[in-house]
Amino acid sequence: MSAVDVAAVVKNYGAQKVLDDIAIHFQEGAFTSLLGPSGSGKTTLLRIVAGFVTPDQGVVRIGADDVTRVPVHARNIGMVFQSYALFPHMTVMENIAFGLHRRGVRGAEATRRARQALDLVQLSHLGERRPKQLSGGQQQRVALARAIVFSPSVLLLDEPLSALDRRLRQDMQVELRRIQQESGLTTIFVTHDQEEALTLSDHIAILDGGRIVQEGAPAQIYEHPRTRFAASFLGDANFLSGPTMPGGIEIDGRPIKVAMPFETRGRATVAVRPEKMSIDGPGENRIPAVIRQIVYAGATTTYLLDGPEGLPFRVFTQNHEANLHPVGSAVWLTWSPAHTILLAE
Ligand SMILES: Nc1ncnc2c1ncn2[C@@H]1O[C@H](COP(=O)(O)OP(=O)(O)OP(=O)(O)O)[C@@H](O)[C@H]1O
Ligand SMILES: [Mg+2]
Repeated sequence: MSAVDVAAVVKNYGAQKVLDDIAIHFQEGAFTSLLGPSGSGKTTLLRIVAGFVTPDQGVVRIGADDVTRVPVHARNIGMVFQSYALFPHMTVMENIAFGLHRRGVRGAEATRRARQALDLVQLSHLGERRPKQLSGGQQQRVALARAIVFSPSVLLLDEPLSALDRRLRQDMQVELRRIQQESGLTTIFVTHDQEEALTLSDHIAILDGGRIVQEGAPAQIYEHPRTRFAASFLGDANFLSGPTMPGGIEIDGRPIKVAMPFETRGRATVAVRPEKMSIDGPGENRIPAVIRQIVYAGATTTYLLDGPEGLPFRVFTQNHEANLHPVGSAVWLTWSPAHTILLAE
């Protein structure tokens, strides 16, 4: 396995700048997610790492090697894409061994390694079936086994779970993480699903309009988003904007304190995660609101509220006890200055 380095990569399609000066280090053995909305350039970046697309500018390195001009087949990369077409006329074992045959590994050695990959995805009992005799999740695992059987230096995954239904997808997320950790493969995973990125990754890079707008460990980005975009793309957030004052901002004549030091000048926007707010709870920051809607989801309840000047709020609560706040109640929304994130405008 190897680290991957992308430096100063630019890609244009016609007049459109699809990747704009991308620089990112994919750490050896780490699971990194590229997260961003449709059209933000995730697949293009992945295809540049794979070698299907040549950048207009910049360099791609795998380990110590500059592979920018190296063709796909010489990069030793395992790949699973959204449509992971298995060969229908081959058995599961034959599908998996195919990549080995192409690399000159045959006979008993190929069988041994294909079995090992099949064990890793826990499908040892289905090696003789054909793809159409498998469920969607099982086919997905075969595709994964096929991508890792030849011990690639890097594993590239482009929304591999998006065709699966929710439950299966959650199971496969856990599986994928286990397989990645057992194999120690440097993995780059493309998704537009924030929950998937949070649960699977060691590191997340958020893309928007062909640029990396923020990167870091999942908790780091979630707790400290830098922009409104990052705050709302990774998780939910309540936003408050107002004139600055010493130690915070002012909303409807009330001080909203910010724990981190900042410059008092003009207006500023802060974000507060919905689970960090409580209704009539503790917290130095408090503003009045009226409960407009309650979304009960078993373990949790989401309250939608109207704040001063109709400002919308969203609060997540754990259902420790019976619901105490009916629709229409006038309440205080409360939270800590430590959970008040100042955003860069
Ligand atoms: N071969 C191509 N020719 C022209 N434009 C392209 C080509 N490939 C991608 N694009 C454009 O580049 C932009 C980025 O595309 P890309 O596939 O990288 O996005 P993405 O982030 O993977 O989106 P999605 O989540 O929808 O898969 C889009 O505007 C797309 O239309
Ligand atoms: Mg894509």
